[in-house]
This record gives sequence, C-alpha cells and structure tokens, in this order.
Amino acid sequence: MAHPSTYQPRSGAEKWLDERLPVARLMHDQFMTFPTPRNLNYWWTFGGILTFILVAQIVTGVVLAMHYIPAEDRAFDSIEHIMRDVNWGWLLRYSHAVGASMFFLAAYIHTFRGLYYGSYKAPREVLWILGVLILLLMIATAFMGYSLPWGQMSFWAVTVITNLFSSLDAIVPGLGTTLVQWIWGGFAVGGPTLNRLYSLHYLFPFIIAGVVVLHIWALHVPGNNNPAGIEVKSPKETVPFHPYYSIKDGFALLMFLLLFGVFLFFAPNLLGHADNYIPANPLQTPPHIVPEWYFLPFYAILRAVPDKLLGVIALVSSIVVLFFVPWLDTSKVRSTSYRPVYRWFFWAFVVTCIALGYLGSQAPEGWYLFFGRVFTIYYFAFFLVVMPVVGKFERPRRLPGSITEAVLGHAEQPRSRKREAVA
Ligand code: HEM
Repeated sequence: MAHPSTYQPRSGAEKWLDERLPVARLMHDQFMTFPTPRNLNYWWTFGGILTFILVAQIVTGVVLAMHYIPAEDRAFDSIEHIMRDVNWGWLLRYSHAVGASMFFLAAYIHTFRGLYYGSYKAPREVLWILGVLILLLMIATAFMGYSLPWGQMSFWAVTVITNLFSSLDAIVPGLGTTLVQWIWGGFAVGGPTLNRLYSLHYLFPFIIAGVVVLHIWALHVPGNNNPAGIEVKSPKETVPFHPYYSIKDGFALLMFLLLFGVFLFFAPNLLGHADNYIPANPLQTPPHIVPEWYFLPFYAILRAVPDKLLGVIALVSSIVVLFFVPWLDTSKVRSTSYRPVYRWFFWAFVVTCIALGYLGSQAPEGWYLFFGRVFTIYYFAFFLVVMPVVGKFERPRRLPGSITEAVLGHAEQPRSRKREAVA
C-alpha cells in the first residue's frame, strides 16, 4: 500500500545512509508505520510466527551442520553424537526436528486462514501463488531433512518417494528408471543420495527466505486483507503496524512458543516415528512406512488411487491445484463469514484434510482405503466443483459498508453527532 514516508533521519550518519541506501526508511515505512486494517484477528499473527520459525530453523540447522556427517556409514552415529556429546546438542536437534512440525502447523493454519477469508482473491493472487510456492519448497526441504538421520524411516521414505518418479516409465519406457537412478546417484538409495539430499536441504531454506521476501513485498503492495474481506475505505480504518500489531504478533508468538515448548521439553519424539532410531537397513523393509504427520493427507491421496502413475498425478495435483484457487473461486465475496452456503463446504473440507491425515497413517486396506477414496474425491471436488459452482449460485449475506461497520455493527458517527448522543 503506497503511503507517504514519515521517516526522519535522526543523526548525520542516518541522513548520510538515507541518501545513499534508504534501508532504514524502507524498514520504517514497511514495518513500523505500515497502515494495517484495525480489525485483524489472531489468525493474522501466523505470518509473523512463520517468519520467526524460518529464522530459527536456519540458525539451528546451520549449527547442527557443524556436527553432522552426511556419509552413509556415519550419519546415524553423528546424530547420536550430537544428542549425547555436543553441548546442548539435544536441544539443538530437538528444536530443529520439533521446529519442522511447528513450521507446518503454522503454515497450514496460515493457508486455511487465507482460504477462509479469501485472501487469494484479486489483487492478492501473486501473494497467494508465492505462498503456495513456499509450501512446495517447505515440503521438499522437510522431506530431504528427514532423510539425514539415516534411520529406517529416513531410508525407506527416500526409497518410496524417489521411486515415485519411476511411474514415468508408463509414459516413456525407461524414462522413469533413468531419472530415479540419476536422482539416487547409483542403482539404489545410498551414500551419494544422502550427500545430495544434504546439500539441497542446506540450500532450500535460503531459497524459501528469498521467496518470503517476495511474499511480503507482494503483501505490502495491496496491503492486508481482513476478516470482513472488504477494502479499507479510509485511513481511519487502519493503524500503524507498530506498536499495534507488533505487540499482538509478539504475544501470539509467545503463546505459540509455549506450545512448541510443551512438545520440545516433554514429548520431543511424539511427532516422530520410533523406527527412525534404528539405523538404515536396505535389507529390511519396516512393516509400515509412514511419513511425518504433516505429509499424511497427501500420502492418503497417493494411496487412494489404484494406479501408480495416476496416484502420483493425484498427489502432485493435490498441491498444484492451490495455485489456481484465485481463478477457481468465482464468488465476488472474499470472507467466508458472509457466505452461508460455501461455509459448510469449507468446514467439510477442513474435516476432509484431517480425516485424510488419519487415514494416511493407517494401512491402505478395507474401510480405510474406502474412506481414503471418498475423502480424496471430496478434496478435489472442493476445488474443482464447489469453488466454481457455489460462487456462482450462492446469495451472500449483506456485506458491511466499511470495516468500521463490520466491527461496530454501524458506521462511525461524526464527532458532532456523538457529542449530541452523550448530551
Ligand atoms: C515460510 C512460510 C511463510 C511465511 C514466513 C509467510 C509470511 C507471511 C506474512 C509475514 C504475512 C503477513 C501477516 C499475515 O497475514 O499473517 C503473510 C500473509 C499472507 N500469506 Fe504467508 N507466509 C508463508 C507461507 C504462506 C503459505 C504457504 C501461503 C498459502 C499457500 C501463504 C499465503 C499468504 C496470504 C494469502 C497472505 C495475505 C493474508 C491477508 O492479508 O489476508 N503464506 N505471509
């Protein structure tokens, strides 16, 4: 949102820098005085929480990398060395592993917030697309990071997921196999695979950080959406980001860190799988290969489809479809709060994602498989049928005339009328 700069250099040095590289002005205008709608609720605090976790993951990751050894025969032991011998190594490693889970928890809440309030609609499409790109990069990064301890789950997760590329053999015979062997750096998952996964796991968070900068840039051009989903009509409907939202975001971050702390200090392995404390063994497949909880809905979708290639296509589409949401949703109303019909479909979608998460953790047989298929169908129907069709036929509730009216239930009275009312 273009707003006049109010930055005043306070010293000669600040003035000198401002005339050459106005970074202090940029930070001041974008993060101190940035006009932010007055009615943002706590769901809007997750962007800040995500930024914090991203930085924390990079810091803990860089220090872990000082002690970790990306070699087939030493990786597992180097993790145990970190846990037992390195000063505070247990805290570093658990912060990073639990941090990955917290990162996804926050990212999913952030994404559902965007879906509920229609934050992807014009003029915020690019902001949304960059968000989906971040989600894809996060998925790739977490997958590669999980391989590094080189335990049984690491090894077999890499085997299962890299093997998905071999489904391309069904299109061009030999193409998939060649691609998989190229990814592996050999004829099976092994040392070269671990090495390249490590290299990319180190690289990707910095790419994510770059895309996050673009994401926030794309946010600051149109400005924030808000729970009413209507445009800011006057400067009186905004407050400067600092101190109003810096304090609110800071408080929410502290609450989130409490939750983080509960897992970190009381149940650091609860979200992981016990089998990953068994060193990788290519000769023994674990009875159940399950990914981390944040991948389970996608895993359920993959296994719901009986054909390998089609399953992979469904898996990829389940995320790629998010890119098209700004054009799939035909409603003119942003916020689901004013959409009486769509609201039901939205909550059914939330239940679907949770159900798919549960089903992804179960063996794909009997009723589990049946419901996996039912929920997979609804997952796609929500985007491809509900969004375009409901938006066209639904009669939304009357929208408030302004953000002020959305909050107060009536438009703000002019000052003179207020005085009369008091008298
Ligand atoms: C590393 C991950 C991410 C970071 C650090 C991040 C950061 C932020 C920040 C700081 C904001 C402004 C505050 C807020 O609205 O919460 C924001 C807004 C937004 N983000 Fe993200 N984000 C991330 C991932 C995502 C993902 C995965 C999506 C969607 C797929 C997404 C979509 C959006 C949208 C639509 C908004 C605008 C919200 C509005 O004004 O209504 N972001 N993001």
